[in-house]
Amino acid sequence: MITGKYPSLRLRRNRKFDWTRRLIRENDLSTNDLILPIFLTEGKHKKIAIQSMPGVFRYSVDLIPKVIDKALSNKIPMVAFFPYTNPQKKNTIGTEALNDNNLVCQALKIVKKKYSNEIGLMTDVALDPYTSHGHDGLLKNNKILNDETIEILIKQSLLQAEMGCDVLAPSDMMDGRIKKIRKALDQKKFFDVQLLSYAVKYASNFYGPFREAVGSKKILKGDKKTYQMDISNSNEALREVSLDIKEGADIVMVKPGLPYLDIISKIKDKFKIPVFAYQVSGEYSLIKNGINKNIINPNAIYESLISFKRAGASAIVTYFANEIAKQLD
Ligand code: PBG
Repeated sequence: MITGKYPSLRLRRNRKFDWTRRLIRENDLSTNDLILPIFLTEGKHKKIAIQSMPGVFRYSVDLIPKVIDKALSNKIPMVAFFPYTNPQKKNTIGTEALNDNNLVCQALKIVKKKYSNEIGLMTDVALDPYTSHGHDGLLKNNKILNDETIEILIKQSLLQAEMGCDVLAPSDMMDGRIKKIRKALDQKKFFDVQLLSYAVKYASNFYGPFREAVGSKKILKGDKKTYQMDISNSNEALREVSLDIKEGADIVMVKPGLPYLDIISKIKDKFKIPVFAYQVSGEYSLIKNGINKNIINPNAIYESLISFKRAGASAIVTYFANEIAKQLD
């Protein structure tokens, strides 16, 4: 609704000083909005740089309490664990995913014991860090098997719940897994474990650095287009979300982030469910490299994150979590 016009109406008036810009501001970013991804590696006292992600490291589990202390001091509500699995422990069916002493389980146990419910713990439900072919599910005759994969994902979910995971995040994009995982959780009385469904995960070109970080990049056979979504679609995203809500998702994720702000906005409008955005590794590295090379202003980090809030996201998984949290303080 336009209630006046130039020259009596001048929108620039509300922008004249910082204090008025702050008063009319429609969206804010706070530390409450941040989820920090943490990469895990074998060994002791290990902090290994990830080449394609400047400023991001893989940590051995003994160093995780230090990482958690820092996240807590930055008032970050939740962290997400991702393992770099020793290649010798990978096989075609991702057996290591069900090892109750794998890196993710170790991290969950240590952090839950030391920090109780001070910080949220989120884990990926998918097989890609554990399979020798780098896919999220079982591969047979060049096909990713849906129902057979779900049976393993259920076991992986129950294991992670038992180890202390607060928020299970299935990122595998198999059909029907939310329903089956929820049912299995209920049967085992894990009534309080949240399901954050990667309901809308695109077969994106922005995952490269992450795949390096978890060691699945070089081994990945083909692409993930038969299970992750076509980058051209948006109605299909709404169908995915509507199904996952019916199946028992508490929160839905849109991934990647910046190229899919329209999708976040549509989902929020239509379903009024908490929507999280994942600012993925490729987005991180683009911005980070641009800043490091002095091509773009460091405030681009804030700009990228506030755009998720503007679109309707409740929280953002971002490798910038610590860096931006310090500024927000
Ligand atoms: C796979 C998974 C991926 C990411 C999180 N979980 C990548 C993929 O589908 O290959 C990507 C995250 C990122 O790029 O930061 N289960």
